[in-house]
Amino acid sequence: MKIVRVLAPLLSTTLPFAAAIYIPAAFAQAPAPKNVPAPPPILLGTSWYPEWWPESRWPIDLDLMQKAHIHMVRMGEFAWSSMEPSEGHYDFDWLEKAIDEAGARGIYTVLGTPTAGPPAWLTQKYPETLRTHKDGRKARHGNRQQFNWDNPKYRALAHDIASRMAQRFGHNPYVIGWQIDNEYAKVSYDAATQADFQQWLKNRYGTLDNLNTRWTTAYWSQTYSNWNQVPIETGYGNPGLLLSWKRFVSDTWRSYQKNQMDAIRQYADPRQFITTNMMGWFGGYDHYVVAKDLDIASWDDYIGQGHLDAAHKGYLKIYWNDSEDDLTRGFKRKNFWVMETQPGHVNWSEVNNDLNKGEVRAMAWLNIGHGAETISYWQWRSALNGQEEYHGTLVGADGKPVPLYTEVAQVGRELEKAGPALAGTTPKSQVAILHTYPSFWAIDWQKHNKNYDPIVELLSYYAPLRNIAQSIDIVQPTAPLDQYKLVVAPGLNVLSDAAAKNLIAYVRNGGHLVLGQRSGMKNSDNGLQTQLQPGPLTDLLGGRVAAYYALENPVPVEGQWGNNTSQLWAEMLSVDKPDVTVLERFGKSNGWLDGQPAAITRKVGKGRITYIGAWMDDAGMEKAAAWMTSISHVKPAFGPVPNGVEVDSRYGKDHTIFILVNVSKASQTIALPAKMQDVLNGGTTQSVTLPNYGVAVLSESKK
Ligand code: GAL
Repeated sequence: MKIVRVLAPLLSTTLPFAAAIYIPAAFAQAPAPKNVPAPPPILLGTSWYPEWWPESRWPIDLDLMQKAHIHMVRMGEFAWSSMEPSEGHYDFDWLEKAIDEAGARGIYTVLGTPTAGPPAWLTQKYPETLRTHKDGRKARHGNRQQFNWDNPKYRALAHDIASRMAQRFGHNPYVIGWQIDNEYAKVSYDAATQADFQQWLKNRYGTLDNLNTRWTTAYWSQTYSNWNQVPIETGYGNPGLLLSWKRFVSDTWRSYQKNQMDAIRQYADPRQFITTNMMGWFGGYDHYVVAKDLDIASWDDYIGQGHLDAAHKGYLKIYWNDSEDDLTRGFKRKNFWVMETQPGHVNWSEVNNDLNKGEVRAMAWLNIGHGAETISYWQWRSALNGQEEYHGTLVGADGKPVPLYTEVAQVGRELEKAGPALAGTTPKSQVAILHTYPSFWAIDWQKHNKNYDPIVELLSYYAPLRNIAQSIDIVQPTAPLDQYKLVVAPGLNVLSDAAAKNLIAYVRNGGHLVLGQRSGMKNSDNGLQTQLQPGPLTDLLGGRVAAYYALENPVPVEGQWGNNTSQLWAEMLSVDKPDVTVLERFGKSNGWLDGQPAAITRKVGKGRITYIGAWMDDAGMEKAAAWMTSISHVKPAFGPVPNGVEVDSRYGKDHTIFILVNVSKASQTIALPAKMQDVLNGGTTQSVTLPNYGVAVLSESKK
């Protein structure tokens, strides 16, 4: 697949999002602590665990960090046994010393609360805080994440340690922010959690009658006559029950997090932000719910096995990473942090290959291009013993820099240099892709064709649209949409009434909405809509999905996007209104589909709604993307760049930053549409030549 990227035009002077500074405006306005300069606008960071090393080693590490232009260390997550060696006996002196020694070198701290690693004394004394696996076994000490996120005792202990930390460090001038816990993921299936889930259901549904109706529990005699009969189900359960459990999981992560946030907020300066590190497309909980209370979103960006330009589930890995950046930016609809990324290799893939020379730097600049304000490497140095001895680091077991250190130092130097130009800039998109967790889960639970992967479906739109539009936002369907010329919903399976209302208003106000397969099939309880797909949008569309077919083999699709095939799935569309245009039809296949509409579109006032019932291969999706962007007036102003070059843009008040990254093997020369400033090398230029993994950062003043 080609990675042709096109520069987007400089469209307007108004930014869609809040000003893109790494500390949210509310925090940035707080007075800077006395005698401590403000941190640079864009930070290079690393995870550092001073508690593993004698204090005599710290200055050596910190000097090496300083030399690499590192300005941020993340400390503390997992260090509970060092902060509270026994119950009620706290030791923060070491941490304060580490923070201050780092600060003296211009290295600012993000403190992690240590709750993903409860100490042995805690779980021994309070075994009720241990989570219960699905099969009823209790988790044990010896790993991490063994806690139960719903357990009141654990929450009290977590509140206590977080508030002790905040009392000690809430005014420390070098502490710029907080990370709650680490990568929320594991939940508990114990009886008390089940009772809390039942109470949650009671709050949501009010009466059992209501729940029974919405879940259609008469089916298979699932009818509940007492709340305490409702089980936890994660497998082949009632779809309403499955979705409710996931919602409960998400709300419980949110309240788990809020508990610690409240403890911190009580004592910490308002300038200190609070975040947690999320995991891209990980679907364990609804990230929009959990992100609500956070000041900024952050995520952990790992390639694992492979490379940016290697195929991953049919798409290049670069698209996965790009889309995960865009997803994370969409959680708060503003710039974000990369809280962890891999220094070379990881230890958890099947083959833990290293990224090629130059690839780590390229990856960092891609993140920055998508709105990252900080790039932080996990980790500085491996513990001499521990589960992750083999993981990539910046310093080896001998305490000396590894070969990659020089490349990371280059990134640090460049971020320092480009920081002032990047400050206050943020990506801006003309195209949005809609995403909801309930839709992803609903399709995953009832795939109907085992290879149907909702993330891959989303990527099948994202990749060609990204190539044309140069920038994509990924947002919820309830987000404000008016700023977009084109809104694409690849698999909006669960369509809430609020989302339907927002989408209808978007089209009526002149927007172009494109719906992909499986859209509008389910209601908020994961039950079938009583109108066929796209449910409440049927009237607007003037057509519907008359029938869907899981495919054993691809079927032909023909029309104005050329001759193509639909893979895995085909939706036969019907046309109900005379002003509907058929864009594509299925060719001869199973008889039912032969000659039937596969894609339709309808102009509604100044707006438009389109439904695509075929999942075409790359060539067809590229043509579909070209059609939908051109009819929606999505304008790529820069013109094409060579295959394998990605262009990202960040818009500021007076200038636009373009970041060009060449992930192709060959050297590439790119003619710029105008004279631009070369931010990294100085001077102005009208063309750049980039070797494999080469990066250019260019600034164009607003005319
Ligand atoms: C992350 C985790 C880190 C470290 C890293 C290794 O998921 O947050 O603590 O384990 O993976 O790649």
